[in-house]
Amino acid sequence: MGFKESFENQLDKLNNEEQLVVKAALKAVKSSHSPYSNYKVGASLLLDNGETILGSNQENVAYPSGICAERSALFTYGSGGRQSTIKILAIVAFDEKGEQSETCSPCGACRQVMIEFEELQKQPYKVIFCYEGKIKILKSSSELLPFAFHF
Ligand code: THU
Repeated sequence: MGFKESFENQLDKLNNEEQLVVKAALKAVKSSHSPYSNYKVGASLLLDNGETILGSNQENVAYPSGICAERSALFTYGSGGRQSTIKILAIVAFDEKGEQSETCSPCGACRQVMIEFEELQKQPYKVIFCYEGKIKILKSSSELLPFAFHF
């Protein structure tokens, strides 16, 4: 079984809202602007009011000016005034051949940003991503970054 089939089987076993947010992340991939890495990442947030907010990686010819899909989604949510609370953040990625990545876990910078949004809403949110071919569901973004930076 290829990863596509395995992913679909695993997705079928998730609950309705988990499936919804992962499918939204799959849609978000379409807006990825990634001509430099050819690696397309999609992220989506499911809010308590049922709304989904999408984000994708947005690269730039001046490489460090780009941004990851996760921060794209979170900053869109923040810029919208943080209406409602975040219940779930999902992430998916596709390589240059258009194949879905068996691993796409958030980078360190995104983890720090994810934790701050969790702290702002005083409520944990789930994080869903693929790791070595398995869909992982964490109960809280804080699991991704022990000893996060604070001052
Ligand atoms: N990227 C993300 O969007 N999210 C991640 O969690 C890891 C990496 C993006 C950044 C860059 O546009 C491309 O993937 C390759 O690193």
